[in-house]
Amino acid sequence: MAEAKKPWGGRFEASPSEFLDAYGASLPVDKRMWAEDIKGSIAHARMLAKQGVITATDADAIEAGLSEIFREIRDGEFEFRIADEDIHMAIERTLTERIGQAGGRLHTARSRNDQVALDARLYAKTQAAALARATLAMRTTIIDLARQHLGHVMPGYTHMQKAQPVLFSHHLLAYYWMLSRDTTRMRHAYEAADSMPLGSAALAGTTFPIDRQYVADRLGFSEVSANSMDSVSDRDFLLDLGYACTVTMVHLSRLCEELILWSTEEFGFITMDDTYSTGSSIMPQKKNPDFAELTRGKTGRVVGDLVGLLTVLKGLPLAYNKDMQEDKEGVFDAIDTTLDALVVCDGMLSSMRVNTGRMLAGARGGFMAATDLADYLVGTGMPFRDAHEVVGRLVLECEKTNRTLQELSAEEFGQVDAAFGPDALGAVDIQNVVAKRVSEGGTGADAVMVQLDRAASTLDADSAWVESLRD
Ligand code: ARG
Repeated sequence: MAEAKKPWGGRFEASPSEFLDAYGASLPVDKRMWAEDIKGSIAHARMLAKQGVITATDADAIEAGLSEIFREIRDGEFEFRIADEDIHMAIERTLTERIGQAGGRLHTARSRNDQVALDARLYAKTQAAALARATLAMRTTIIDLARQHLGHVMPGYTHMQKAQPVLFSHHLLAYYWMLSRDTTRMRHAYEAADSMPLGSAALAGTTFPIDRQYVADRLGFSEVSANSMDSVSDRDFLLDLGYACTVTMVHLSRLCEELILWSTEEFGFITMDDTYSTGSSIMPQKKNPDFAELTRGKTGRVVGDLVGLLTVLKGLPLAYNKDMQEDKEGVFDAIDTTLDALVVCDGMLSSMRVNTGRMLAGARGGFMAATDLADYLVGTGMPFRDAHEVVGRLVLECEKTNRTLQELSAEEFGQVDAAFGPDALGAVDIQNVVAKRVSEGGTGADAVMVQLDRAASTLDADSAWVESLRD
């Protein structure tokens, strides 16, 4: 028998065993919401006093007691006991032990169902903002790198086969836009959490004359939730945050896959900094991109966190069900993992060495000017399908003689088809091939400059949003 008295003790003649107490407890997971819980309780007590539900003296005692508990938890002096089940009861029990009856009045017109919803929403808002900030930091790094590498050409791939040359800046900026959408998803998750559930009082509302708007204002919520049953059973905001983390991780995982590939001897496009690499215990020559691999691997867990929560919620009737206690562990894990992964990837990008010579050499292989050569023939009046055929034959010829398109002479072009003039040489020049792709969103340097401006202004706009949250 667990000896701690339960807050619902009146109705019971026996309590769950210690084993069951531990099984039913969420304290090890939800104790990280201690600051949110205390903040919420102080706001609730102040509202009760303002409405005359409790006295100002009681509210003062509650606030003083909670402030003391706040300091103790912050300073690591608070003793958490598993028998308290969750952070809400741990704090309330301690408060009541210390200040007596006033502590017992705190729970008037409130239930743990709305309390857990409140704490999770406050926590989700803070974390969504922190995640958004981390995406912004990485976006800044990518813009800086893209500016540095505007002149550097690399092979672009489809099907993992060389396709057309691109600027390294352009390739990097593709990740900028992914992360920019991730910021947007974080913002959406923030806004989904920004609704104040306290005062739902288990499920049906309360008979006390509460002022929910006052609590919302004090806690910085932009609105009061509309339906007490929805407020205590809605976990969409955690799904939204979990999804935002999942997509971010999928993006980082794709980036990591490329960094791993690029740092192989076969590619050699980048050299990962030693500080982001590990060695082998047996092979002295090894330098492994462990942190990129691990980020790719951790993505699996974050995907699992989201699927886990979706599965918990599926089929739950209204309103609160204890199943919902399983909502936090996965989302917390997803938040922690994604925050760390963003920092790791930012560091990998800003510290890696870019081997521009290897990239350029790679861009010269693979007949990547073939499309341009076909376009050149179209410019002479040849239908595209015929041009495709002519250039196909040229590529085959080069392959047989082990040469690149850039190694052919003007005469050799002329021999394959009379439509080729001496300017065919310019059409296969790899820098020209890139420079000509100036369509909006294309890889030509002029188009990439425009893209960079657009990226910088979205970065400014998103930064302004995050900054606006700080008061
Ligand atoms: N520990 C619970 C959770 O995380 C708090 C709400 C419990 N409410 C209840 N009536 N058992 O969901």
